[in-house]
Formats: sequence, C-alpha cells, structure tokens
Amino acid sequence: MKDKTIDPEKFQYHSSVAEGLHDFLEREITSHSLKIISKNRGGVFFTGKKENLKNFFLSTRFSSKISFEIAKFQLTHPDELYDKTILIPWENFLSNRTTFKIESNTKDNLSHSRFAMYRLKDSILDRFRKKIGEEPQIEKFKPDILIILRSHQNYASISLSITPTSITNRGYRTSGGVAPLRENIAQAVLEFSGWENEEVIIDPMCGSGTILIEAALLLKNSHINIKSMNSSTLFNRLFGKAEMRNSPKPNSVLLFGYDKNIHAINSAIENAKNAGVEDWIRFENKDFSEVQNNFDQGYIITNPPYGERLEDKDSAKILYGNLSKFIKQNFKNFIFTIITGDKSLLGYLKLKQKSSLNLTIANWKAKIVNYEIN
Ligand SMILES: C[S@@+](CC[C@H](N)C(=O)[O-])C[C@H]1O[C@@H](n2cnc3c(N)ncnc32)[C@H](O)[C@@H]1O
Repeated sequence: MKDKTIDPEKFQYHSSVAEGLHDFLEREITSHSLKIISKNRGGVFFTGKKENLKNFFLSTRFSSKISFEIAKFQLTHPDELYDKTILIPWENFLSNRTTFKIESNTKDNLSHSRFAMYRLKDSILDRFRKKIGEEPQIEKFKPDILIILRSHQNYASISLSITPTSITNRGYRTSGGVAPLRENIAQAVLEFSGWENEEVIIDPMCGSGTILIEAALLLKNSHINIKSMNSSTLFNRLFGKAEMRNSPKPNSVLLFGYDKNIHAINSAIENAKNAGVEDWIRFENKDFSEVQNNFDQGYIITNPPYGERLEDKDSAKILYGNLSKFIKQNFKNFIFTIITGDKSLLGYLKLKQKSSLNLTIANWKAKIVNYEIN
C-alpha cells in the first residue's frame, strides 16, 4: 500500500506535562508561533502551521507525550463504538506494514475499558480486511503507532500519539544508575536555573549524568528529540524525516560532572557517548569535596540523594549541610540550583532561597530551588 500523506494542520494537538511545568510548556508552545486553544490539568491543547509544529515536536523540552485527536463522537451504547470507529479512515495513519497498540481508558457509557479496546481493534482490522485485504499487526511492547481511546459521559475520543513511547525517551540511557532524573525534568531544572548556553555548569553529584547530558544536547542541536521523532512512523508520515544539523564540537568544555560512585560515572560516560555529546562534558569519579573551581562564575545544578529510609535520611541531612558549606566556600558568584524529592532537607543547606518551584511527576513530589552564592 502506498503511504498516504496527511495534513498536520488539520489537527488539534495535546502536549502532556508534569504538574508545575505548565508555564514552561505554554511559553515553549507560543515561542514556536503555535496557538494555544485550551489547557487541562494534564497539559495544553494547540494548533499551528506545519513547519512550526514540526520544529516544536523536534525541540520540545518539557512535553512528556504529544497526541492529536482524529475522531470524537457521541455514544449511547457500547456497541456503537464499532460502528463509529470502522468509519475512521485508518488507512491514512496505519498500513499493513505498521504495528499498533491501543491504550484504552474509558468510563461512563464505555465502562469496560478492555471490551472497548477489543471492539476498536476489531473495527480497525475489519476495515483493513475490507479495503486493503491485509491488516496491520498488533504489538504490545514496541508498536509503531499508539492509539489512545478515552471516553467521558456519552462522548468517546480517539487520538494518536506522535511517538509510541514517551518523547523524553531519547534512547541514550543504557544504564540508568540508582535514581536517574527524567529527561524533561532535567530540562525543567536547567530552565528554572536561568542557565544559558555559553555558561559553565557543574553537577557535583551527577549520577548517570542526565542534567549535563540534557544541557549538552541543547548545545549540540536544539532539536533534542530528533532521534525519537525520526524513528516515529507518525512523525515521518506527517512531516517527513528531519535533517540532523549539529553544532561543531566545542573549543572548550563548559559542563562538568562528578560522582563518588565509579559505576555512576561509568554509566554517565556511556550515556553521554550514546547521546553523541561526550565532547561537550567532562565526567570524573570524585567526591564533591575534592572538586576544584576554575571559574569566576557559573551554575552548580544538582540532584543530591535524599534517602527514603530513616538512616539514609540522617546521612542526607549531613550531606546537604556539607555540600552547602563547600559551595559557600568555593563557588562565590555561582547560582546553585537543586532538585530534591524531600523538601525538609532544604533547611540543612542554611541558604536563603532566591526562587522555587514545586512539581509533581507521577507520584513523585519534588521542588527545584535557586540560591545565589555571594
Ligand atoms: C539522586 S543521584 C543523582 C541522579 C542523577 N541526577 C541522574 O539523573 O542520574 C545522587 C548521586 O549523588 C552521588 N553522591 C552521593 N554523595 C556524594 C558525594 N559525597 N560526592 C559525590 N557524589 C555523591 C551518588 O553516588 C548518586 O549517584
């Protein structure tokens, strides 16, 4: 079957975002000259011109997932789902060579999500059998296309996800370390710190290196999602393949990561290589207390351990105190930005907060705080 082209400007898109990062996402959307239509708790709905949509998808730092609605209809009985969805021109989005998965989260008139998922699947396959002869395949784990079915009261809606997994899954993480930050949260920490491209960042407890790798991706090519987009069947169908346009290697390194755990440093080095940014960052296996400052100003951006067990929490209190003393002594004129999952530890820094932001990611409640070191 020949691939059909679809006009991306016909759709309304939804970007989902962690609670607390709506403002960041809205600014990002409008900075791409896209039009915000409405907002909900989970994210922002928007429309726009093809080229602007494409650039936004390639470079969004804060979106977790992006989807667009292809059908919305009234439903008085669950049996109507099949009759309505067999009318959707599925062959515009799927082909007999693509695999798909349905994520069904329905209620009210479609109270059985699993039943609804099977009826939708039947309608897609039956339409293909009738129109094309051959059907797309179902794939639970690595589908080409993710179809999202939702219902509320007597309405059902069908959306397609631009990428079959989270956009932030940039594919560089082969070994995660103990508690890696999500990529879009690392982007939010960078944004909130006020860091700009030509400035130094030191992460004295870098773990698997997410904060620095995300900063390096921005320095290398603002299209930080290019890998996930280019491997997405739908992105390709809507916009065609995006071209790589990387910046040349830097003359001097501005990003420095340290960790006392050799396994963490090894995974940071491996992840940076996978991301193609190893020339932008220097990682070293060191306790933060041995880090030397060779700069007049810059950013210390970090995500220290916070400890969920009591004994870990006691050592985290001491660690926060020592880290703060060390920074005050050695990093005058720096901005110090911290993200923590335990706000009660921040008091042990004994520093005056300049600004702060609360966020919730799934069930993880975190806080980002900026301090000025004078
Ligand atoms: C929560 S993890 C950082 C995770 C990281 N942001 C990532 O995305 O992978 C905290 C890290 O602090 C490191 N750490 C703890 N105490 C340290 C110290 N005194 N000096 C350097 N690193 C330390 C741990 O080894 C751990 O890798």
